[in-house]
Amino acid sequence: MRNLKNTITLSFSAFILACLSQLLCGAARAQAPVPDSPAIEARAQEMLAKLTLVQKIELIGGVDNMYTRPMPVIDLPRFKMSDASVGVRTWGPTTAYAGGVALAATWDTEFARSLGVGLGKDARARNVNFLLGPGVNIARSPIAGRNFEYLSEDPYLNSTIVVPFIEGVQSQGVIATVKHFALNSQEFNRHNASADVDERTMREIYLPAFEAAVVKGQVDSVMNSYNLINGAHATQNEFLNIKLLKGEWGFKGVLMSDWDATYDAVGAANNGLDLEMPSPKFMNAKNLLPAVKGGKVKEATIDDKVLRLLRTELRYGFTDRPQLDPADSTFSVAGRAIAMQGALESITLLKNEGPLLPLDPAKVKTIAIIGPDAWPAAVGGGGSSEATPFESVSTVAGIANLLGPGVHVLYSRGLPDMNDVFREAKWDGGVKVETFASRDFTGTAATGKRRNVADWKPDQWEPADPTPRSIRYTATFKAASAGKYLLVAAASGEDAFKILADGKQVLDQVHAEGQVPKYATIDLGAGQSVSIQADYLPRAAGSRLGFGFVYEPELVSAEAKQFASIADVVVLAIGFDAPTEGEGHDRTFELPWGQDALVEAIAAANPHTIVTLTGGGAMDTRRWLSKVPALLHTWYPGQEGGAAVAAVIFGKQNPEGKLPISFDLNWEDNPSQPYYYGAAGADTTLHTIGENGKPLDYTVPHIKYGDKLMVGYRYWTTTGKHPLFPFGFGLSYTTFSFANLQAPSTAASGSTVPVSFDVINAGSVAGAEVAQLYVSDPSTKATRPERELKGFEKVRLAPGEKKHVTLNLDARAFSYWDEASHKWTIDPGKFVILVGDSSENTPLHADVTLK
Ligand code: BGC
Repeated sequence: MRNLKNTITLSFSAFILACLSQLLCGAARAQAPVPDSPAIEARAQEMLAKLTLVQKIELIGGVDNMYTRPMPVIDLPRFKMSDASVGVRTWGPTTAYAGGVALAATWDTEFARSLGVGLGKDARARNVNFLLGPGVNIARSPIAGRNFEYLSEDPYLNSTIVVPFIEGVQSQGVIATVKHFALNSQEFNRHNASADVDERTMREIYLPAFEAAVVKGQVDSVMNSYNLINGAHATQNEFLNIKLLKGEWGFKGVLMSDWDATYDAVGAANNGLDLEMPSPKFMNAKNLLPAVKGGKVKEATIDDKVLRLLRTELRYGFTDRPQLDPADSTFSVAGRAIAMQGALESITLLKNEGPLLPLDPAKVKTIAIIGPDAWPAAVGGGGSSEATPFESVSTVAGIANLLGPGVHVLYSRGLPDMNDVFREAKWDGGVKVETFASRDFTGTAATGKRRNVADWKPDQWEPADPTPRSIRYTATFKAASAGKYLLVAAASGEDAFKILADGKQVLDQVHAEGQVPKYATIDLGAGQSVSIQADYLPRAAGSRLGFGFVYEPELVSAEAKQFASIADVVVLAIGFDAPTEGEGHDRTFELPWGQDALVEAIAAANPHTIVTLTGGGAMDTRRWLSKVPALLHTWYPGQEGGAAVAAVIFGKQNPEGKLPISFDLNWEDNPSQPYYYGAAGADTTLHTIGENGKPLDYTVPHIKYGDKLMVGYRYWTTTGKHPLFPFGFGLSYTTFSFANLQAPSTAASGSTVPVSFDVINAGSVAGAEVAQLYVSDPSTKATRPERELKGFEKVRLAPGEKKHVTLNLDARAFSYWDEASHKWTIDPGKFVILVGDSSENTPLHADVTLK
């Protein structure tokens, strides 16, 4: 009887649950957009016909920072937006995924789809209609501040990952926005710099991911970048927006601006921009009504923008169903699993001498976990993509949780916190402050005194100072002991400064959107004084500058060295984090100050030191790499990062990430380096960036992309030189081999060429390999990179297992962009197919002659 009652109660609860979920799910299930149709077209035209010209113009500007404008006369509500690819971040806590460069490091297209679906569900759970991602710009240089948000250095990898990602997001009834169109491959001076690039380089390197997003992924929204391209801002770039995007690629969706990336009303209106975000500072009635009346802008051009918005919104059913879908969880356990999978798949093992890894948890009694990235979790980079997770797993917590209570865990940051250095800096007699009403330290200054300068805030998003000033700080530092001192400084990336020591410039951040933090090393004798002058140009009101001295021998804490010396093994977590790498500024190639010394000190104290790197790409490892046995790149691993790092280190996960970038030894070796700041040198003026619709007053720094096609591995394989670690490289705990390459010896030019081969797990543990196929064109008439990635497949294999992989190469795989004929062109003749596990290790070769 009792049992029966229990059964009934249980089935009843199941019934209630089923009803509840029916109720919730029935209300608004994920709805993929329907294709455009005569019915949709008719509805859109009918709505358009009810609008006055002023109302139409109103619709093409955003409102409330993150919404499209509502229009009550046609019952159109406002639609909500959110950043972006690593988490639906704008509206409170969320799941923070391993996205961007970490996603590319997975080389897993199905995972890209799952991530897209996860983000789509997160968006629906927050009533979000437009997801402002993915970002697909090319990682041209390791110092570009937003590489972490983007994917890789390779157009084929980006194109292949972005399509399922977009399909995943849009399958949930959420519009994906591919960004930043185009050429945002640096943060330095991003509002004002012109990326000057020839058409072939654009077509072959910088645009294919956008093209794939539009043509194959059917993305319904595109966001223009801040920068100029060949002298015209993206938001008014006819070639990109009209000729390519809306012309050749047939884009039918909405082209929106980045936030405050519109610089001219008529220019933007006539050159393809459909929606000015976040508000109509330029494309407003005041500017456009007279332009339409005066014949400078056609009313049909405005109509086209409105129709694009309406059609897209109708296709998604935004006016016919609630976007908020309570069937999708706000705190999503399923999302958490996706976050974990991304972190597990992306962590890339770069060095494993011994092999030291994987560690046997049973053999570890004491572990030291040290470094600025060990705690708190370095979830993502900074800026508009920065998602706040409900909870995150730091490296310390991940390892301690995995090892359990029997193991002794010692944590130390190892280095002082940057703000503490600024706060605790001891200036002889304090700091003199002179504030000038001018921008060039001229005129009479208001003077004052401070104990120190410790105002550093990484936050970039303050409004421009309405009464721009310049501030000069002067102070004297007296060395207590003889030795090396680091002079550390950081301001907001939007500010500029120069610091002089005894009259000689030692540090500067002269470009708007420069690099943070910066440091110089100065030798001082015991009791020696040095006078410091910091000339600071804040862009916002107040100050966001900090600077101070730290004595190098005291940099690394005694506690960290002690912990390292008594531990069986050390995990040393270094690299960048949200304050030091993010939107609005580039980062340094060198590690943030003190970290080189930290690795040297810890490696000297314990030979079993495993270094984990956090960051959007390559960084300087020269001072210490030979001194540590193991190195892992974790990218920005999202909220579950610490758990994933632990799983890899202790062999619960066989590492399978592969470098989506060439890992340079020196920044100077990077092919973009000579061109990065423009042929004519850096532009040192701080510009007014169009606040309050004010006209701009600046000269355009032209960044000539003289490296052309020679980005990343294209450069390395063509020159025969080698980076530290090649594109595509990543170690595993098992070994894979490749065999049995089959390709037709001849094929018709333009036909699809099937290539197949075996991948074998020759080791003793299960693992995943990324088989990479490169195409080389030795008989070409054009100058081409030595090899280019044209296919890949991630293969999971049990020990001893073999899989036959087939990859089909289409015409594009053999083509280059011919500048004379303005066409994708194949030079018939000999091609070489190369297959292997990195851009530099391709053991299988076959010749294919295209006739
Ligand atoms: C960023 C975009 C972002 C937008 C909205 C801008 O600063 O460049 O990527 O989508 O802000 O947050």
